[in-house]
Amino acid sequence: MDRAVIVALDFPNKEETLAFLDQFPEEKLFVKVGMELFYSEGPAIIKEIKSRGHQIFLDLKLHDIPHTVEQAMSVLANLEVDMVNVHAAGTIEMMAAALKGLTQQTNKRPLIIAVTQLTSTDEARMKEELLISSSLEETVKVYAQNAKRAGLDGVVCSPHEAPVIHQVCGKDFLTVTPGIRFKDSQKDDQVRITTPQQARQLGSDFIVVGRPITKAKDPVLAYQNCLKGFLTSKKEEDDDKRPG
Ligand code: C5P
Repeated sequence: MDRAVIVALDFPNKEETLAFLDQFPEEKLFVKVGMELFYSEGPAIIKEIKSRGHQIFLDLKLHDIPHTVEQAMSVLANLEVDMVNVHAAGTIEMMAAALKGLTQQTNKRPLIIAVTQLTSTDEARMKEELLISSSLEETVKVYAQNAKRAGLDGVVCSPHEAPVIHQVCGKDFLTVTPGIRFKDSQKDDQVRITTPQQARQLGSDFIVVGRPITKAKDPVLAYQNCLKGFLTSKKEEDDDKRPG
């Protein structure tokens, strides 16, 4: 799948979501629907967004016993979205069950990626509350390798983690990266941010962008500039190959 900017539709209801999408009559977007919107509107919102021709990342972060996740994924497969996800902390067995659930009824399946460590969980909390004594970087690396062993397509991570993940899991293993801010936009609650250009240079395959686009004065212009910045930037390794 080609690289893309994924617009996070962090809206509470259908009305606000569709009012936002109404501004994009021409563009076919790749959007992210998370728990808030999906739990309030249900599968109908997925059908509505799909009927407008947009691609969908359904961000529900499944984490349960393998059998339950497998069954849940076989239900989600019917929604015909383009990307789904699970928590890598659920184990390799759970991730493999998720993949099996997705392909139970059809061979055409969405991309499936794993959340490594949530960016809201820092090393201190990992140690004190989760009793994980490895470093954050080591955990992210091993969780990504586990996702790959389970047959998943990639992980959600910070753009800063993309180089090491590609190093250990290969360049075709997808990195889907939030924490994107434009040079002139507010940081909001994001901590380690990069611009779309920097994310690409670090090797991100998909960037997830919410408020810098949804809260912009001109969301269409913000989206177009973001897309241009991300797609026209070259990866550092490409640049390294250039003479001089
Ligand atoms: O508005 P903003 O660009 O910060 O939105 C980023 C989106 O990516 C939100 O939907 C947020 O929940 C999600 N996300 C994140 N950091 C992660 C995982 C997901 O910001 N580690």
